[in-house]
Amino acid sequence: MSQLPIMPGAHIGILGGGQLGRMMALAGSHMGYRFTVLDPSEDAPCAQVANEHIQAAFDDKHAASLLASKVDVITYEFENIDANMVEHLQQHALVPQGSELLHTTQHRWREKESLVKAGVSVAPYREITMLSQLKSAIEELGTPSVLKTASGGYDGKGQVVIHDADECEAAFSKLIVMNQQLVLEQFIDYEQEISVIVARNKAGECKVFPVAENIHVDNILHCTIVPARISQEMTKKAENVALRIAQSFQLCGLLAVEMFVGRDGEIYVNELAPRPHNSGHFTMEACATSQFEQHIRAVCNLKLGATDLLTPVVMVNILGEHVDTVQDWMNKKESIPSGIIQKIHFYGKTEKKPKRKMGHLNLLSEQADLALQWIEESRIWTTQSKVYQQQN
Ligand SMILES: Nc1ncnc2c1ncn2[C@@H]1O[C@H](COP(=O)(O)OP(=O)(O)O)[C@@H](O)[C@H]1O
Ligand SMILES: [Mg+2]
Repeated sequence: MSQLPIMPGAHIGILGGGQLGRMMALAGSHMGYRFTVLDPSEDAPCAQVANEHIQAAFDDKHAASLLASKVDVITYEFENIDANMVEHLQQHALVPQGSELLHTTQHRWREKESLVKAGVSVAPYREITMLSQLKSAIEELGTPSVLKTASGGYDGKGQVVIHDADECEAAFSKLIVMNQQLVLEQFIDYEQEISVIVARNKAGECKVFPVAENIHVDNILHCTIVPARISQEMTKKAENVALRIAQSFQLCGLLAVEMFVGRDGEIYVNELAPRPHNSGHFTMEACATSQFEQHIRAVCNLKLGATDLLTPVVMVNILGEHVDTVQDWMNKKESIPSGIIQKIHFYGKTEKKPKRKMGHLNLLSEQADLALQWIEESRIWTTQSKVYQQQN
């Protein structure tokens, strides 16, 4: 495959038209690239900002070939794309990220196996297809443990925590109808959940973004705090884990590495996402280069941008149920205390379904505590206020 950089002016195709594609296209447009997006829905967030939209299903080979004929390079914005489709595209166009990493990260068995091969720690786990296996795995790994479907899960869907051995049957029957392959993981007693986003281009240049601390509510990312409130030693360790994975996987593009900082001082890799990630939205205003620009740079084999943190930041997600209060607040005079600069992003979605990711707010402040306090006092995220009491 060509090692040549694909320079601004070139045409980039994106598979998937959600908010990640939208922010990719916005960042790439600033750099002078043109975009065509393939997505089945008429008003997809990315279609609103791309130069062209091919409205078709992701498994429509004719539409994929049309996309390939129009663009110089193709990328994707979500990981549940059929690897066969990527292989089909590779016959007609440049797809620098390839299909292998996609294939690996689509299945927890493969993902864990390759993480172990890369020499990083994961929670002790067992592959499960039968109830008898689950029962003996629970004896070996103990409780609590978490049973997950091997593929197709997101935002905590397709998971059951097993607190006691007698819960095995119920957990197994709930998940096995969703997926014939499951994984049991020991529940990690963690101090923090963190993520590191790493980029690598075809030339082998590799860069990590600052380590992000993530707080989930109902298994959905609620906010990200950067710098993460962990020791320097742990920060270094987490960066090295991400770099090691990027090298081992011969990454091209962006990879988000979700990790647990265990109370035992160990870092455990939870899961991978081969694309820009919600926990990297803080980079848009808080870093020298955003994760979206970095992704474009990596895929186009440009020199990677600097990842320095320009200011501490707290990113908070705006879900469907928060939109009205956030928009009321935007028009109020007493909007935000001094010492915090707020930057708002909406993704152009019209339907405000509960739990749907509609936008996010980056709060830039020398003091993360001040931003966290404001999130609580604003009462926009009222149901989640107890989170801060636990964490602080
Ligand atoms: N082995 C584990 N130990 C402790 N917590 C876990 C474990 N696995 C998952 N979790 C919790 O559940 C959340 C969702 O799990 P994850 O595997 O990341 O699935 P998803 O695809 O839904 O993001 C994690 O962010 C973490 O809070
Ligand atoms: Mg996750």
